[in-house]
Amino acid sequence: MQILVTGATGFLGTALCRALVSRGDTVTALGSRQADLRQPTSLEPFNNTRYDLIYHLAAWTQAGDFCLRHPGEQWIINQQMNTHVLTWWQKSQPQAKFISMGTSCSYDPGMPLAEEHYLDGTPIDSLFTYAHTKRMLYIGQLAFRKQFGLRFATFVPSTLYGPGYHTDGRQMHFIFDLIRKILRGKLYNEPVILWGDGHQKRELIYIDDFVTSMLRLSPSLENEVLNIGAGEEFSIRHFAQLICDNVGYDFNAIRFDTTKYVGAKSKCLDITKLRHLYPDLRLTPLSEGLSRTIAWFREHESKLLPRTQGAA
Ligand SMILES: NC(=O)c1ccc[n+]([C@@H]2O[C@H](COP(=O)([O-])OP(=O)(O)OC[C@H]3O[C@@H](n4cnc5c(N)ncnc54)[C@H](OP(=O)(O)O)[C@@H]3O)[C@@H](O)[C@H]2O)c1
Repeated sequence: MQILVTGATGFLGTALCRALVSRGDTVTALGSRQADLRQPTSLEPFNNTRYDLIYHLAAWTQAGDFCLRHPGEQWIINQQMNTHVLTWWQKSQPQAKFISMGTSCSYDPGMPLAEEHYLDGTPIDSLFTYAHTKRMLYIGQLAFRKQFGLRFATFVPSTLYGPGYHTDGRQMHFIFDLIRKILRGKLYNEPVILWGDGHQKRELIYIDDFVTSMLRLSPSLENEVLNIGAGEEFSIRHFAQLICDNVGYDFNAIRFDTTKYVGAKSKCLDITKLRHLYPDLRLTPLSEGLSRTIAWFREHESKLLPRTQGAA
């Protein structure tokens, strides 16, 4: 198949393109250097190829408190990118199925995180703008379905983890930040201070499990949203304990800073629909996924864990 991927240079895009190429697809892999999607004509160079699938992964965001500090820019940039990609799909590639990434942040945390509630209620305040740009992306797909008969699917991942994450110093998703801090504690004897009381709960999905599930379900999921997660969540303390066990650091040496921003108290996708559509889904056990992720951290130690001046 001919497949165009935006966000191909990102954490998910890299893993997705690798999987597509290895199953024999012809992939047009785009990062911002190949096509700056803030520009309305950025996809015109690809008009002459007839794509079967478009995976739209590009988004302007980071983890931590980034969304709290950049709501205006996030609104402009993500709305620009999404509008330009959707417009190009409708005008130049109407035969293609359009597959986008949603976010669990779009759900109202007071409601079940089930697909029928994707547009219901109010997302958490700190992620309000980012969440709504993702909702608007889905609404754009729905609108193009209604008016032009185009085909789409939206996949909503829980937090992705695994080898191959950023090494460029951007804010990290919680699990990578935990690994980084605990490894630094182990290697350099730095104090390990985690944000919040550690009782907030999070769900993870191993990156290859997400890619496998999305590839399996992309042909059959028609004009719908689908959550892809592990369906169970654990406290930050639990994740920290597993990492400590793996790297040989004393969990009791960790300090919890309850003055810091921690986001939602709990965030776990309802995966009833996923289990129904993909009954033989097998997920990578958490301890194994963490082990591989920690091994990847160690391989990239010079970028991810550089010794700072004055460290012991
Ligand atoms: N990671 C998660 O846990 C998670 C969870 C839920 C949903 N998602 C969604 O999944 C998708 C992929 O996430 P990710 O973690 O792989 O993100 P990522 O690593 O931050 O990658 C973002 C991608 O977007 C591209 N991009 C940013 N600005 C652009 C622009 N102006 N023009 C063109 N491309 C631009 C980046 O290109 P450059 O490399 O050139 O900057 C990069 O390829 C996103 O839509 C995200 O919202 C991710």
